[in-house]
Amino acid sequence: MVALRVTVVLFLVCLCLGGLGLLVSAGRLSGVERQKLEVHKHLNRLNKPPIKTIQSPDGDIIDCIHISHQPAFDHPFLKDHKIQMRPSYHPEGLFDENKVSSSSSGSKKERTNPITQLWHMNGRCPEDTIPVRRTKEEDILRASSVKRYGKKKHRSIPKPRSPDPDFINQSGHQHAIAYVEGDKYYGAKATINVWEPKIQQPNEFSLSQLWILGGSFGEDLNSIEAGWQVSPDLYGDNNTRLFTYWTSDAYQATGCYNLLCSGFIQINSEIAMGASISPVSAYRNSQYDISILVWKDPKEGNWWMQFGSDYVLGYWPSFLFSYLADSASMIEWGGEVVNSEPDGQHTTTQMGSGHFPEEGFGKSSYFRNIQVVDSSNNLKSPKGLGTFTEQSNCYDVQTGSNGDWGHYFYFGGPGRNPNCQ
Ligand SMILES: *[C@@H]1O[C@H](CO)[C@@H](O)[C@H](O)[C@H]1NC(C)=O
Ligand SMILES: *[C@@H]1O[C@H](CO)[C@@H](O)[C@H](O)[C@H]1NC(C)=O
Repeated sequence: MVALRVTVVLFLVCLCLGGLGLLVSAGRLSGVERQKLEVHKHLNRLNKPPIKTIQSPDGDIIDCIHISHQPAFDHPFLKDHKIQMRPSYHPEGLFDENKVSSSSSGSKKERTNPITQLWHMNGRCPEDTIPVRRTKEEDILRASSVKRYGKKKHRSIPKPRSPDPDFINQSGHQHAIAYVEGDKYYGAKATINVWEPKIQQPNEFSLSQLWILGGSFGEDLNSIEAGWQVSPDLYGDNNTRLFTYWTSDAYQATGCYNLLCSGFIQINSEIAMGASISPVSAYRNSQYDISILVWKDPKEGNWWMQFGSDYVLGYWPSFLFSYLADSASMIEWGGEVVNSEPDGQHTTTQMGSGHFPEEGFGKSSYFRNIQVVDSSNNLKSPKGLGTFTEQSNCYDVQTGSNGDWGHYFYFGGPGRNPNCQ
């Protein structure tokens, strides 16, 4: 009798637990399904119907999207926007890239080479389309949430003049940069050495870029950024990729990488944002670099971007910004890595080539021919160039100038080493 009662009670307990289990798993299932739905909705927003599709050797899919169907036009303010197919003005005083390479080809030591994007090996996009790197489900699933996909996780602007240790050290971002401030700037240019730095942790990245900054370092900071990056989190591999970023509120609600939100309007059919660039430089071997120019069209007010001497990629409409709708207050050039300190030690993630500036050409990474655009739309040498790094024993920067390279600097380092633990 007692045994029977125990059995019945046990049976009931089991039923209850079983039911609970079912309830829990039903709840979990619908959560997963809700997330799946959200991810697919976001994929549909980002991936517009292609006119042609190109499979890149690195696993990327490049979709050729009709220029008027690009993500920018999802923005309510851009519904009736008339695409500018070219800037009204280019800045005056552009360094003639061909002249630079022919004059430096005489000196074998500092010869640099042209560069393309990997997907070009398998085809090109037709006229009136733009190449867009297709976002895959796993790309979004690597982000902390659908909403954060394509956005920076932290504020990450190096703040040279008044270093705020909490700000710099808490976010774990480390920089080695050159910068100018104290004037009104209408653009910036640089030729950036391309490498493939090693990344220790998948949640870390390493990049080389220029920053066009407007406003103070508050909640409403405006920033336009362009360069190359290695970011396993964003792209799912360790390839070196061309990228842009923009924000008008210090990385909070507005802005994103590449074309991952409405903002940047692309007009170019040959260069894909976020696609791999190839080849990359090798230590004591061939050196490759890319030129990036960002400037404000004095007539329309839009911020344009040019890649190399031939590719005008497109523009950020002026209305996206507050301070940058007028001008920039600071320009920065250089490298940034995330130090996530996984084991309490400094990361071994490399910046630039992973070698310090002292090593020079062919070993350390460089920015050359750095210039700013002034209020008369002229490209000028930067005046009063400063440098900044949080821990020069981990990553450092050294400036110089000469006839061929104008103002330049070497930067970067290996991260963890006997002097950086
Ligand atoms: C950041 O932290 C490192 C090590 O903890 C320290 O050496 C460095 O001075 C700090 N940087 C700034 C700008 O406070
Ligand atoms: C990226 O490089 C790290 C080592 O630096 C390696 O552990 C990781 O597997 C690589 N990731 C991919 C996707 O190749």
